[in-house]
Amino acid sequence: MAFRPPHAPRPFLKWAGGKRQLLPALRRFYPSRFGAYHEPFLGSGAVFFDLEARGLLEGRRVVLADTNVDVVGCYRAVAHDVEAIVEHLRTLAWHHAREGPGFYYEVRDRRFNPMREALQRERLGNAQAGVEYPAELAAMLIYLNRTGYNGLFRLNARGLFNVPVGRYRQPRVCDADNLRACAATLARDTVELRHQSFEAVLDQAHEGDFVYFDPPYVPLRRSASFTAYTAAGFSSDAHRRLQQVTLTLARRGCHVLLSNSSAPLVRDLYERSQDATRAGLRTFRARARRAINARASARGPVIELIVTNTGGAPRAGRPKSAGFSV
Ligand SMILES: C[S@@+](CC[C@H](N)C(=O)[O-])C[C@H]1O[C@@H](n2cnc3c(N)ncnc32)[C@H](O)[C@@H]1O
Repeated sequence: MAFRPPHAPRPFLKWAGGKRQLLPALRRFYPSRFGAYHEPFLGSGAVFFDLEARGLLEGRRVVLADTNVDVVGCYRAVAHDVEAIVEHLRTLAWHHAREGPGFYYEVRDRRFNPMREALQRERLGNAQAGVEYPAELAAMLIYLNRTGYNGLFRLNARGLFNVPVGRYRQPRVCDADNLRACAATLARDTVELRHQSFEAVLDQAHEGDFVYFDPPYVPLRRSASFTAYTAAGFSSDAHRRLQQVTLTLARRGCHVLLSNSSAPLVRDLYERSQDATRAGLRTFRARARRAINARASARGPVIELIVTNTGGAPRAGRPKSAGFSV
C-alpha cells in the first residue's frame, strides 16, 4: 500500500537565504490559477513546500532545479531511497547525541568529503553519469546541514565542505515522518528534479505557468568581490541575465514572482527599469531578518524586494505589520 504522509511536508534542509520567514509576504502573491510550477533556485524549497502544503500543486507539473549538485542529488535520494536515509540518519543522530562536535568533524572530514570527492571523480570519468547521490551521502548531507553552522553549504578552494559545527543543544537530525512526507511528494511522476542553471526555465515554462525565482542575494553593501563573483558564484551579470529571463517570461504570460534584497542593483533592474514596468512587473517591500551574517550587529531587520506580475498583490498603502509596503 502506498505511504500516505500524516502531515504536509516541510523543508528538510535548513538553507542560508531560505524563505520560510518571508512566506507570509510571498503568499499574498501566489496566483489563484496557474499551469505548471517552476522553482529554478530550489535550495530548501520553502515556497515549493508551502504551495504543496496548501494543496496548490496537486495534479500539476512541478520543475525544481538548482546548480548545486549536492542539493539536487540529495532531493533525488530522498525521493527514491528515503527508508535507507532514515536508517543512516538515526545512526548519525545517535552518535551525535553522545559524541557531539567531535563526531560532526569526523563525519565531515573522514566520511562525507572523501565519499563526495570519489563520486565527483566517478562523474568526471563518465559523461553519462547523472547527479545520483547514494543514501548514505544524502543522510550525511542532511546531518551536517542540521548540525552545522546556520545551514550553510560552503566549499573551500579545494572543493571540500568546510562549514564548522553549529551550537545547537538538541538538533533534530532525523525527522522520519517529515522525510517520508517529502519523499511521497518528490517521487510523484509530475515532479522533476533538475540540475541546471536558471536560464533553462525559458525552454520549460509556458504561458500561464507560475515561476518563483529566489536567486542568491545581492549583498546590501557593495563588496569588492561582488561585481566579479559572490561566494555563491552569482555575479552582477548573472543578476542582469536573470532580469532578462524574468521579463521574457512575464511577456510570455507566465506568473512570475521574484525575491531579493533591496540593494541598488536589484532596484535598478526591477523598480527603476521601464522595461520591467512595461513587462507588467511591480515591486513591493517586505521586512525580514537579515540572512547569514557573521557579525551579530548586522543581523537586524532588512527590507526585501518582491517583484511580481501576479494579480494577488495587496492594495497600495502604509506598511502593515506583515511587513508590506507598496
Ligand atoms: C537564496 S537560495 C534559494 C533558497 C530557497 N528559496 C529556500 O527557500 O531555501 C539560492 C539557490 O540558488 C542556487 N543557485 C546559484 N546559482 C544558480 C544558478 N545559476 N541557477 C540555478 N540555481 C542557482 C544556489 O545553489 C541556492 O540553492
